[in-house]
Amino acid sequence: MAKNKLQKFEDVDRFSNVFEYTDFDDGSPKPKGKWHGEIFKNDNPIVLELACGKGEYTINLARMHPDKNFIGIDKKGWRMWTGAKQALEEPLPNVHFMRIYIDHLADYFEKGEVDEIWITFPDPYLRESKASKRLTSWKFLEIYRKVANPGTIVHLKTDSDELYSFTLETIVEENCEIVDRLDDVYAERPDDPVLSIKTYYEKMHLKEGKTIHYVSFRLNRDDD
Ligand SMILES: C[S@@+](CC[C@H](N)C(=O)[O-])C[C@H]1O[C@@H](n2cnc3c(N)ncnc32)[C@H](O)[C@@H]1O
Repeated sequence: MAKNKLQKFEDVDRFSNVFEYTDFDDGSPKPKGKWHGEIFKNDNPIVLELACGKGEYTINLARMHPDKNFIGIDKKGWRMWTGAKQALEEPLPNVHFMRIYIDHLADYFEKGEVDEIWITFPDPYLRESKASKRLTSWKFLEIYRKVANPGTIVHLKTDSDELYSFTLETIVEENCEIVDRLDDVYAERPDDPVLSIKTYYEKMHLKEGKTIHYVSFRLNRDDD
């Protein structure tokens, strides 16, 4: 029988590979600066999947790259239950999940602790008044710079034409370098083992006949 949200909340609460934090700072110790030494216990690069939902990229990339650490981040705990459970069962010791607002990333990572960022099918926030909530807005790029190594690559996969165009414009305005760009992932590179990992939302968009876009770019430093 499928588990309901409440049961998933309870499970996630006791999963050893999930950190959960309340929206307000209740003073509980945070993992900032401890990811390598205390949590993963290695010096391997750290890759974030932001807006991870069930964590398909976190899980599949972690299988492909045991020499890297992966952290799926979302504000909704019951969604990450799927990925966290899989990682515990396999097991995938290079996987962690964290329930926080991405807006507060700098409270959970030291500068330079993050080496790569994936953003998978984030909400496009189409209304102009909500543009700063888009996870590729300059406001969020500023947050990523606070935790990332210089030269960190940010990958975006989206079904939204508007978010894709907005991101391409932001890349130019922010003087970032495009690493790779596919206007139509499955027409241009259908056999790419990484780009053909499909998330829950992606599968729904594909059923609706939507085109999937991908762009990756190098995050420049604060002073570039
Ligand atoms: C459309 S879903 C995509 C989920 C998953 N990546 C997928 O493709 O199936 C967007 C996700 O972003 C999360 N999200 C949106 N804004 C967020 C924020 N500021 N901080 C953390 N998570 C956020 C939502 O909770 C939701 O799970």
